[in-house]
This record gives sequence, structure tokens and C-alpha cells, in this order.
Amino acid sequence: MTHARQHTPQVVAHRGASEDAPEHTLAAYRKAIEDGADALECDVRLTADGHLVCVHDRRVNRTSNGRGAVSALELSDLAALDFGSWKSRDSSGGPRLEEPDWEHRPEDREATSVLTLERLLELVSDAGRRVELAIETKHPTRWAGQVEERLLLLLKRFGLDAPASAEESQVRVMSFSARSLHRVRAASPTLPTVYLTQFVTPRLRDGRLPAGVRIAGPSIRIVRGHPAHIERLKQSGHQVHVWTVNEPEDVDLCLELGVDAIITNRPRAVLDRLGR
Ligand code: G3P
Ligand code: CA
Repeated sequence: MTHARQHTPQVVAHRGASEDAPEHTLAAYRKAIEDGADALECDVRLTADGHLVCVHDRRVNRTSNGRGAVSALELSDLAALDFGSWKSRDSSGGPRLEEPDWEHRPEDREATSVLTLERLLELVSDAGRRVELAIETKHPTRWAGQVEERLLLLLKRFGLDAPASAEESQVRVMSFSARSLHRVRAASPTLPTVYLTQFVTPRLRDGRLPAGVRIAGPSIRIVRGHPAHIERLKQSGHQVHVWTVNEPEDVDLCLELGVDAIITNRPRAVLDRLGR
């Protein structure tokens, strides 16, 4: 397939290099950096004692050897769990048929422990090259502003909360909640925000985003089914960051449409496809 536009999208590792290594662990993010990802995506939730941790689901049941809601557990409870061994099994409980390009080494406990956002920010600071961070706020309505407040405090500690301009920012905040993004922009107007969407809404159809948001985050299903909406967003001057793009033909479609970031579980494969 020839690419209609010369455009190099950013490659964002979704939950880390999560096809190979267990999602949202230090192991997955280290692998993504080694693989050459431009940016790392992570979901953040608040623990019962107010720490921001990188966990996708409301509960820890799927991705750890524990049970319960993140919001009901303290950081010390989460720290006692293993967030890596599930990746060595297939869904039937037996050993995985495919060998992942990652080895579970129980002696490196930190690699598969619960990951705090603070530790992820340290990893990015120590990466030795610029690695951006796309942080998604989960369950922001339940905590009425506390997720965003804690997030901004933490970013401030790393000097990342108030970039000179959105273009220069190393961090962006993503959410399915327009209200969560509004809270972030009210506190830090230059921090870029991404409005995630998995459904075609009238707003999306018209190429509009919530006030002040410059980046659209549609799912790959929307991109496949409604490429004209993506073109309209681009024509309206918005950036488009697409998730979760794992198949080669979807990478090609994103290139054709000139999207700005490809969010993928397979950063190395996407970089290969882009010839990088
Ligand atoms: O990058 C956005 C994407 O991660 C949103 O969906 O469910 O994977 O958090 P989800
Ligand atoms: Ca996410």
C-alpha cells in the first residue's frame, strides 16, 4: 500500500509494551522504552489511601493474584500482590502457547509489582532520551476532582505540570470524561488534553471537541468505520491520537489519514511498519 501522506505519527506504548510483558508494570514500560516507543500510555486510579497507581480495571482480579477494587485497597495491600504471573498463563490456566518476548524473573520483584505513577515518572526521567507520557484518568467522577488534584501535584514535583506551551509538554492527560479534562485545564491551561471516545457522537461527526481540548482520541473502530470524521477533525485543526492499533492494515490506515499518534500494545511492530 502506498501512503498518501508523508507523516510520521508518534508511537505510544499502550499500558507499556503490553503484548509482550504484563500491562502497566515496570517490565512493560522498560520494554517499551527499549523498543523505541516515543511515548507511554497509562491509566491511573486512586488507592484507598490516596496514591495514584497504574491499573486499568476497577478491580485487580484480572491482572494480579489478588482480588478487590483498587479504590478499596491501600498501597501496601497492592504492593503485596504479583501483577506479572497472570501473563505467563493462557486464559485456560495452562502455560502460554506463544512465547512472549519477555521473561518473568521472580527475583526482580519490582518489575511486576504494582506500579505507582510516581515510579513511572521516575522511569521516564531516567530514560536517557525524551519519552512522553499519556496519562488517562480513570473513574474521575467517583473521586470528584481528587484524581486530577493528585495528578497535578505529582507532575509539579517532576516539573511537568506547567509546560511553556502544549507543543513542548512531555505529558498529556487523556480521559473519556470531559469534566476531568476541564479540571486539568482549569488548573494547568498549557497541559495538553485528549478527549477519548469510543462512539460516534454528534460532536465528533461535526469535527468538534469539548471546549479547550485540541486532541481527539477515537478508537480504531471509529477510524475504520468513519474515516471522514477523522478527516474533518484534522481539517478543524485538531490532532488525532488513535487507540488501540495493533494490526498492520490499521497502521496503514492511520498513516493514510495522517493521524498524529498511534497507541499500540506492540510498539516495536508498529515502528517496524513505519520504517523506524
Ligand atoms: O489510550 C486510550 C485507551 O487506553 C482507552 O481505552 O480501556 O484501554 O483504557 P482503555
Ligand atoms: Ca487507557
